[in-house]
Amino acid sequence: MQTLRDIRCIQRPGIAEFGWGHPDPALLPAEALAQAAALALSRDWRSALVYGADQGPGCLIELVRRRLGRLEGNMPAADQVMITGGISQALDMVCAQISRPGDVALVEAPTYHLALRIFRERGLRVVAVPGDSQGVHVDAAEAMLHMLQSSGERVALLYTVATFGNPTGSTLAADRRYALAALARREGLMVIEDDAYGELWYDTPPPPPIFNLTPAGPIIRLGSYSKVLAPGLRLGWMLAAPEIVRRCATSGVFDSGGGINHFTAHVVAAFIELGLLDPHVERLRTSLGERRDTMMTALARHLPSGCTWNPALGGYFVWVRLPANIDGAATLPAAEAAGVSYLPGERFFAEGGGHHYLRLSFSLLPLEQITEGVARLGAVLRRA
Ligand SMILES: Cc1ncc(COP(=O)(O)O)c(C=O)c1O
Repeated sequence: MQTLRDIRCIQRPGIAEFGWGHPDPALLPAEALAQAAALALSRDWRSALVYGADQGPGCLIELVRRRLGRLEGNMPAADQVMITGGISQALDMVCAQISRPGDVALVEAPTYHLALRIFRERGLRVVAVPGDSQGVHVDAAEAMLHMLQSSGERVALLYTVATFGNPTGSTLAADRRYALAALARREGLMVIEDDAYGELWYDTPPPPPIFNLTPAGPIIRLGSYSKVLAPGLRLGWMLAAPEIVRRCATSGVFDSGGGINHFTAHVVAAFIELGLLDPHVERLRTSLGERRDTMMTALARHLPSGCTWNPALGGYFVWVRLPANIDGAATLPAAEAAGVSYLPGERFFAEGGGHHYLRLSFSLLPLEQITEGVARLGAVLRRA
């Protein structure tokens, strides 16, 4: 008989799970969310429990605008904001609106592996653009765009996790952000900026979002409450040109069901109104920053020579490069037998490669398990 599960990530006993890019449940603000839910229901339950406005509830749209304005000095207009069911839902929705099957999606190499599935399920052909520790090469993206166009292909979008990216943790340098915004404007290339991790910086804030560099340009910025509040909320926001927001909000799904996750949106609005979000994000930065430090120290102590990794200035991940004779996927069974797991690098490459990399997430485990897990990984890699 099939066993039905309630949750996605099951931590296997005895294994240090570095594979899941999920927050430690200990970091989820259950009591504060209960307080917010009580407020959302007590002050106006009729507004919270009916079908919601297609673009999302005005109360949350206003709070998102004002918070971004305060944090970034750039307040989007109300018709540039839409409440989404998180970045995954927004990516699928945007693809449905701006692309046709057979179009090309340009992505970074490597990139967030599960976005690749969403693009492919929408019939897009995924083409990888090379990058380095400073993010995607904008010149290469431009050359690729022209080459594809001259062979008759339609490039629907360029997708980038520009800030503390998944899987590398790297951030698109400020000059490349300006260059990418200029390319988008010049060529009418739709850039989708996945900003899942932008608020989770541990040393210094990242450069400005690409969207803010050209608010009237063809940029769509996607934010999420999954990483800064709780993934189970299934809530996020989209910033885009009013025409894109209108097209998404008037699509059949919204026409039939109203705004997405409407009650949750009211709870998050109450959470922000109660002044709970900023201190929570601050606590996350401290706690995740400690986990990052612990992982860095453990990597330096336990990984054999020939392994290198990024400094992980924010987000959830460390991207480890292995010596050329070690394959991440082939080594995984031995690693799990030794009590540590990770994601092999090849999953993040749209067109192959990445065999000598692995992604470690420091967001799920407490400090002592991070240290122990990295020690086990070091022992496995030394044997390999
Ligand atoms: C880069 C990136 N984008 C999107 C998501 C998923 O976002 P959401 O939970 O808002 O759908 C993740 C989750 O791991 C991610 O790493």
